[in-house]
Amino acid sequence: MQVAVIGANGGIGRELVSRLADAGHDPIGVVRDESQFDTVRERGGEPRLGDLEGEFAPALRGADAVVFTAGSGGDTGWDETLLIDLWGARRSIDACVEHGIDRFVIISAYSASEPLAEPEALRPYRVAKRCADDYLERSPLDATILRPTTLTDEAGTGHVSAAFDYRGEDGDAIPRADVAQTVVACLANEETVGETIRLFGGDTPIENAIRPTD
Ligand SMILES: NC(=O)c1ccc[n+]([C@@H]2O[C@H](COP(=O)([O-])OP(=O)(O)OC[C@H]3O[C@@H](n4cnc5c(N)ncnc54)[C@H](OP(=O)(O)O)[C@@H]3O)[C@@H](O)[C@H]2O)c1
Repeated sequence: MQVAVIGANGGIGRELVSRLADAGHDPIGVVRDESQFDTVRERGGEPRLGDLEGEFAPALRGADAVVFTAGSGGDTGWDETLLIDLWGARRSIDACVEHGIDRFVIISAYSASEPLAEPEALRPYRVAKRCADDYLERSPLDATILRPTTLTDEAGTGHVSAAFDYRGEDGDAIPRADVAQTVVACLANEETVGETIRLFGGDTPIENAIRPTD
């Protein structure tokens, strides 16, 4: 499957491009600067230019699925949060609808479950994430929403803890590599379409953890 990764130069994005290639997919790494092309190529992806604040839809050409793992990061203001995490996600969803790309996985955040929770300072970020998730949920796409808790750069374990219902309790931090591997597992499991999955560090093999329970 051709899978376009929006945010391919990011922490999760880099891990994801490698893991998609390892799983036999053809990853497209969408980045906003040509200096990042080699990083994508070294990981087995085809680099393409796309800026969420400018033109990016042509970079999705030919994709069967899109993964949105871009983010404005913690060093920018709420203006960038709005433009990337909310509006960029929304434009990505619209581009998929317009171009007939049915499968979409978004990396949201655990805290999007409850935007008004403490700490108050992060409320705008959580609202942006939540509104992007809600927009995706209402779209006609085959969507999976992943809401990881705090991310780390530890090595992947191949194991996570997943929750399909919001229980209000946070869990252990999770390596970005394990979030990336969860995306690969979701793309291979149709049962995850239509699901919102909260992700934590844990000890359940990823393929088992993402199986919805009725
Ligand atoms: N940090 C946490 O603990 C945490 C917890 C839960 C969820 N999340 C979410 O998980 C997602 C991935 O996290 P991460 O740590 O992998 O993120 P990251 O390393 O900050 O990567 C984000 C990527 O988005 C790209 N990006 C930003 N603006 C863009 C634009 N205008 N056009 C195209 N690409 C753009 C960045 O490009 P450049 O490389 O060019 O800057 C970067 O590669 C984010 O949405 C984040 O909010 C984070």
